[in-house]
Amino acid sequence: MCGIVGYTGPQSAVTPLIEGLRRLEYRGYDSAGIALGTPNTLFVEKRAGKLANLEEALGSASPEVHSGIGHTRWATHGGPTDRNAHPHLDNEGKLAVIHNGIIENYSQLKVELESKGHTFESDTDTESVAHLLSDLRKKHHGDLSAAMREAVQSLRGSFTLLAVHADDPETIVGVRRNSPLVVGLGVGENFMASDVAAFIQYTKRAVELGQDEVVTITPSSISITDLYGAEVAPREYEITWDAAAAQKGGFTHFMLKEIFEQPKAVADTLIGRLSDNNQILLDELHMNPDEIRALKKIVVIACGTAYHAGMIAKYAIEKWAKISVEVEIASEYRYRDPIVDSSTLVIAISQSGETMDTLMALRHAKASGARVLAVCNTNSSTIPRESDAVLYTHAGPEIAVASTKALLTQIIAVYLIGMHLAQVRGELSDQEVAHLYSQALELPGKIESILETVEPIRELTRKFAKSETVLFLGRNIGYPVALEGALKLKELAYMHAEGFAGGELKHGPIALIDSEIGTPVIAILPAGHEHGLDEKMLSNIQEVKARGARVIVIAEEGAMVVGAEHVIRIPIAPPIFQPILATVPLQVFAYEMAVARGNDVDQPRNLAKSVTVE
Ligand code: G6P
Repeated sequence: MCGIVGYTGPQSAVTPLIEGLRRLEYRGYDSAGIALGTPNTLFVEKRAGKLANLEEALGSASPEVHSGIGHTRWATHGGPTDRNAHPHLDNEGKLAVIHNGIIENYSQLKVELESKGHTFESDTDTESVAHLLSDLRKKHHGDLSAAMREAVQSLRGSFTLLAVHADDPETIVGVRRNSPLVVGLGVGENFMASDVAAFIQYTKRAVELGQDEVVTITPSSISITDLYGAEVAPREYEITWDAAAAQKGGFTHFMLKEIFEQPKAVADTLIGRLSDNNQILLDELHMNPDEIRALKKIVVIACGTAYHAGMIAKYAIEKWAKISVEVEIASEYRYRDPIVDSSTLVIAISQSGETMDTLMALRHAKASGARVLAVCNTNSSTIPRESDAVLYTHAGPEIAVASTKALLTQIIAVYLIGMHLAQVRGELSDQEVAHLYSQALELPGKIESILETVEPIRELTRKFAKSETVLFLGRNIGYPVALEGALKLKELAYMHAEGFAGGELKHGPIALIDSEIGTPVIAILPAGHEHGLDEKMLSNIQEVKARGARVIVIAEEGAMVVGAEHVIRIPIAPPIFQPILATVPLQVFAYEMAVARGNDVDQPRNLAKSVTVE
């Protein structure tokens, strides 16, 4: 939610700021703006709509100055207009603020500030901070860092804030609470941003910031303090991926590139996890065998696509490790009174590690006494930092808003957790685990083979591009796949799409099948013949077909399929691993549908990749 970047150094600031915003646009793209540190006053330009509108407004007119801040917005308070775009200024036009998050007590602050004579220009919560900082800076004799420390003490909510003042334009001050902010350390220049992607082309040295830490950068210095002015030693780390990983590399969209990166992402997350004596290596769990044996329950919390990885975790962990698993939408979990204690392991799954709903659910679980394990793709982000342990996925940077490769690696991570728990608890023998692991190692090659034959899916989307509704059916571990297929189509194609458990069809959803329009139904045929689930799904296919549906079936090679207008074949794999394969054609289907309908694939309307508000 909102991308933030700050720069101070020898370059003409507009270049790193616009470059940085381009890489942060995944966080929101309702409006964009910059404030450049021109002496005595500030140069500010901001525009509703995508970054391109701001660039057009700037033309070649932006001044050659060497510091500034930039913002790309996902609107919360106040519509996506020029007026509500960040930066927001104090009444003298000398102090600019950008913000990611929500200031919950902004209306109260606004009343207080208005009574002191401040006038407000926007409908945002952010503007109150600009006015507040302006007063406090005067109180602290021009010390913007001191003003920020005091201001934050009276703010409630979640926020990353950056501020700059025209009287000292080389100095940029930032702070974070429950929203991300990292510092990039360059040579004679320094950066701040929501995500390292913003400055990775200039430096790989980054500094992470803790809760309520105030950071002040100039071209040659960085200083971090707590809210009371006590110095905090910078925690520096090296960024391990390079700028090329955040480029499209010849693909038309980041999403397509990321779909094609899945074989590598899955392999990178999986490889090296089995010892020579057939033990799953997951030291990151930080749990000794006694603690694992004492586990009574696992609760998975996640949002969006990550929630579907959680559902798959339930099937795998219950099957292998025989531990009861509950899967909860994080935003719902947080407001219940969950029954957890120290024998409960809570697994928080998040690509970004910053999703506010998941973070709040995690805190709720910890406060109730549970041990929390994060499954995360982003190093040093908030969710892993606040968890007791973290298992990192190795998907690399995921830029497209709709998640693809991150999901597949999350599923791999939960498989590894399931195998490890099962092995330690004696539910799977070493040989069984080694066999499962070797079957998992074949998955990257199988994904590769699906990606080599996506042309028929392209043709299929042309046929169905004008449909308004698509239904997805799955059973057992194919049910979360159906949900994910529907979610992808909603996100990207803006179509009405629903995923159902095949058995539930007759209890209501079948009424949605309209014989006049031939409602498209995509069915995931369960792999193998376990419990006769494949036959049950074939019956469901007949039921919808008899009512006029046009049926597309995802089925493994060689499986018998009757009643389908189209069959998309995927390689044979053990049923429990089928989601890794069956998801891929559904991603391609949603991608192609979005392209066919002329939608913005990488930045679908109304969405943001990293949702740092509740
Ligand atoms: C947003 C994104 C989804 C993502 C969800 C959870 O809604 O648009 O693609 O699945 O957040 O994100 P996380 O970073 O926690 O996995």
